[in-house]
Amino acid sequence: MIILAIESSCDEFSVSVLRDGKIITNIISSQIQDHIQYGGVVPELASRLHVQNFPYVLKTAVQDAKIQYADITHVAYTKKPGLIGSLIVGAVVAKTLAQYLGVPLLGMHHIEGHIYAANIEKKFTYPVLSLVVSGGHTQLVLLKSPVEFEVIGTTQDDAIGECYDKVARVLKLDYPGGPKIDALSLQGDDSQYVFPKIMQDNTLDFSFSGLKTASINLITKIKNRNEAIDVPSFCASFQKTAIEAVARKLRRALELNPDVKMISIAGGVSANQLLRKTVTAISQEYQVQLSIPNLAYCTDNAAMIAELAAEYLGQQKPIN
Ligand code: KG4
Ligand code: ZN
Repeated sequence: MIILAIESSCDEFSVSVLRDGKIITNIISSQIQDHIQYGGVVPELASRLHVQNFPYVLKTAVQDAKIQYADITHVAYTKKPGLIGSLIVGAVVAKTLAQYLGVPLLGMHHIEGHIYAANIEKKFTYPVLSLVVSGGHTQLVLLKSPVEFEVIGTTQDDAIGECYDKVARVLKLDYPGGPKIDALSLQGDDSQYVFPKIMQDNTLDFSFSGLKTASINLITKIKNRNEAIDVPSFCASFQKTAIEAVARKLRRALELNPDVKMISIAGGVSANQLLRKTVTAISQEYQVQLSIPNLAYCTDNAAMIAELAAEYLGQQKPIN
């Protein structure tokens, strides 16, 4: 079985090849440099650049995997959710390829893909509890068995990645702000700035608009006093508050679901060093196994889509 997978939901065009259960290539063309000047992703520009970039990405992936197009047995692609123009480009490429080759076409869900990114290198032991932390989603997802996704908690407003990016923008850090805040935090004092404690309720839902507003108000206050902001310490203090809040919800979910055997993290923010350290500690504290995605598979990539497609095929479950 050779699955060629395409991911194009936002500003990355990625093609991956999975052969006999193993990812053998994962090529990603990132547009970050093209969007930096606008402080965020411009949807129209993203889809135009996908049209420009996909032939090279596709050709490179096939060459790198050392396969012929005729060897491909399945084509998978990200069907939803994402920027509509970006998704359409990936869908058209995938449908054309599948039709030309006469092989099945598998439309995948982007967030389910992020969850299965962790399964690439360390296989899941079910039930799995996955903390999804991306630019558009913050969720707790329970998988009692393979590809059976139950959302048990979700954000009521902003996603965690969106909160990182908006705070970073006010700090005048380049897009995407998450990795910048994460890197600067290492040089800062995380107790220098105090943020209100967030998400103190006992539900499994999330809310980041309060932390976003408190952070922006604090920056404005410091500026109005003509004081300099210690940016690394601001980043470290913000990051401590954000990660502590998601960790609290993860602990609560584990207490409510004592049969969980493994925890996992998914989405762009799963690259965060403090989050990775924190979930490692939680897995030890609750004596559950841990599967965290390799850094190469945290942000958007087609390998996770190929892995998810392989899992659906293996389980012979219907694909929505
Ligand atoms: O999953 P992803 O690549 O795209 C979506 O599906 O949304 O996630 C992108 C998000 C951005 O908000 C970015 O700032 C954040 O992930 N991110 C991080 C880190 N790396 C990426 N946030 C915090 N720490 C990081 N190291
Ligand atoms: Zn994503």
